[in-house]
Amino acid sequence: MLSWDEYSEDGVTNHNVGTSPVPLVEQFDNPEILRPDQNANDSAEALTTEIDARTMPAPNESRSSDLVRPDTSNDDIAPTIHQENTERVTVDQKRMINCRADLNQLVPFKYDWAWQKYLDGCANHWMPQEVNMTADVALWKSEDGLSEDERIVIKRSLGFFSTADSLVANNLVLAIYRLITNPECRQYLLRQAFEEAIHTHAYQYCIESLGMDEGEIFNMYHEVPSVARKASWALKYTQELSDPQFTTGTQEDNQALLKNLIAYYCVLEGIFFYCGFSQILSMGRRNKMTGTSEQFQYILRDESMHVNFGIDVINQIKLENPQLWDSSMQELAAQMILEGTELETQYALDTMPRGILGMNGNMMAEYLQFIANRRLAQIGLPERFQAVKNPFPWMSEIMDLKKEKNFFETRVTEYQTGGALSWD
Ligand SMILES: [Fe+2]
Ligand SMILES: [Fe+2]
Repeated sequence: MLSWDEYSEDGVTNHNVGTSPVPLVEQFDNPEILRPDQNANDSAEALTTEIDARTMPAPNESRSSDLVRPDTSNDDIAPTIHQENTERVTVDQKRMINCRADLNQLVPFKYDWAWQKYLDGCANHWMPQEVNMTADVALWKSEDGLSEDERIVIKRSLGFFSTADSLVANNLVLAIYRLITNPECRQYLLRQAFEEAIHTHAYQYCIESLGMDEGEIFNMYHEVPSVARKASWALKYTQELSDPQFTTGTQEDNQALLKNLIAYYCVLEGIFFYCGFSQILSMGRRNKMTGTSEQFQYILRDESMHVNFGIDVINQIKLENPQLWDSSMQELAAQMILEGTELETQYALDTMPRGILGMNGNMMAEYLQFIANRRLAQIGLPERFQAVKNPFPWMSEIMDLKKEKNFFETRVTEYQTGGALSWD
């Protein structure tokens, strides 16, 4: 039901390329450029570059009267390989979507923050085999080392994430990459796509190390309703854009891309990952499944940067195309985040029917509402949940993990004891 080719759901409209109007390419004489704080990488939460409301156009403000609308009927909106225009690219020609400048010219940068995130992502590079899983294997195979509830949490997490990271990677490569018409952002998307492959590798490595039933884990998104609902919710936002004939340019199609970005960055990576992350990391804090927990720490740090990049892209698109961020789009975006919060809460209750690991369903619900408020605020929408606090402040501390030092120490230890790594 949920395979890439077979998926369909009510409410998903197929893109009718045969009747699409001529794309509108909207050019600004003096495009505003967001330049978020370059030092924001000091903290994972601070990584999110907040958009100063003073620089944002009013939600319903339209600049259509100022727009130049050239005849683009014979133009390729996103020329990626064949580029007839041989002129050097200037910053003012660069745009997040519907850009007609040469996409093979990386510099001059318009979005310095995107390049910085690419550099930061590379600096955080890690591989799953470098994490020692010995203690996890012994604990998983022991008779009484883990409760049945703890085993469910581990299986559900590996089951959901092993599919979810694949969904994200497919969405990036098959839908988003082609439609984001900016080379420095594409550079980060390539980095992100590789990181998603590393994450899927990490789950496979855990599943193999622990000797789990691979069929049960990898097919969980078909078989466990609370997992299937989350995967299904995300897939419907990829369906339209993954059509090779889909392109942006009209109000409707530009908004379809915006919906996809909100679904994947704000909800899938921004909410759907957080119950499982906090459960596994809580386990690690209790000295259980420490190798799996360490893998999840590195994944969480990567994901935090993915979310922050996506939010910057969403806000930049809004800034350059304020007509897309109309009242109906704002309401839809808020609704998507609320739906995601509800699905994740159901998942939490399903995986954690009883109190476990110092957590319970009510605490997780509040945590998810806290996260949802943050996602809403990050894209300029009012918070929807009143008086909620973060019941798991240690999650923020873990996200602030200074990987370079800790990870290097881990690698040296493993080299000395296991000899599994080669420095050649
Ligand atoms: Fe990932
Ligand atoms: Fe991600």
